[in-house]
Amino acid sequence: MRKIIIIGASSGIGMRVAADFARMGWRVGVAARRGELLKTLKDQFPDRVEYSEIDVTAPDAVERFNDLIETLDGMDVLLYAAGCGWYNPALDPADDERTVQVNVLGFTKIVNAAYRYYKQTANVSRGRIAVLTSVAGVKGLGISAAYSASKRYQWTYLQALDQLAHQQHVNVGITDIRPGFVRTDLLKNGPTDLPMVMSLDYVAPRVERAILRGYRVATIDSRWAVVTGLWRMIPACLWRRLAIDF
Ligand SMILES: NC(=O)c1ccc[n+]([C@@H]2O[C@H](COP(=O)([O-])OP(=O)(O)OC[C@H]3O[C@@H](n4cnc5c(N)ncnc54)[C@H](OP(=O)(O)O)[C@@H]3O)[C@@H](O)[C@H]2O)c1
Repeated sequence: MRKIIIIGASSGIGMRVAADFARMGWRVGVAARRGELLKTLKDQFPDRVEYSEIDVTAPDAVERFNDLIETLDGMDVLLYAAGCGWYNPALDPADDERTVQVNVLGFTKIVNAAYRYYKQTANVSRGRIAVLTSVAGVKGLGISAAYSASKRYQWTYLQALDQLAHQQHVNVGITDIRPGFVRTDLLKNGPTDLPMVMSLDYVAPRVERAILRGYRVATIDSRWAVVTGLWRMIPACLWRRLAIDF
């Protein structure tokens, strides 16, 4: 039975993808801070799901993550779905700090530990590290300074790991999944009239396909690929004048 661990599975995309993998017959390890929500997954799929309360910003996060790998007796795929802090035009410093803690430091700790796990278990079948990054990494967004910067960091770190794995002959594939807006709790602290918002029903199968087919980068969806492709072409002197406030 194949095994996936999803960090950030107590709500939103992570929770939906966890339930779908359990339905597909995988063993699923789920983690986040809110254990009572993780337990609802365990109750739905008692033989397939194991859960652990992990705060990726806590000093024991890696130890707990490694314990979860052991409980599952291995890990074929890690999906890092933990994230926060997309909208902060007021530049609230606490919000910025939380965003960096979860999206940069927590991300680095867990993904680094997953890479080292695959490096040590080089004789097992190919592993995969997948991360829900975002289209927001494409440029610095004034209304989401820490968030867009943190997502760019994730893009770059994953690209670097892919190269390192090749250099070190580590049997791990890297999947960077970049959704546009998805209707989840993450969007609750921002404007309500956002464009091109996608449902979980639409996004979850696309996330799963990216993992199962081993895509290196998957932008969800093609409309967002076009929009962010156009953003890339805008020179910095014009970009700063764009009043992006959705
Ligand atoms: N929704 C969108 O429009 C959108 C677009 C592009 C990318 N994404 C990315 O997709 C990922 C999932 O977001 P979502 O939309 O599904 O939002 P969500 O429903 O708010 O899910 C966020 C998950 O992160 C977990 N989390 C937050 N802080 C954590 C911490 N300190 N330790 C462990 N887990 C933590 C939360 O669990 P606990 O609170 O229980 O810890 C929750 O399970 C994020 O990385 C987000 O940036 C979302």
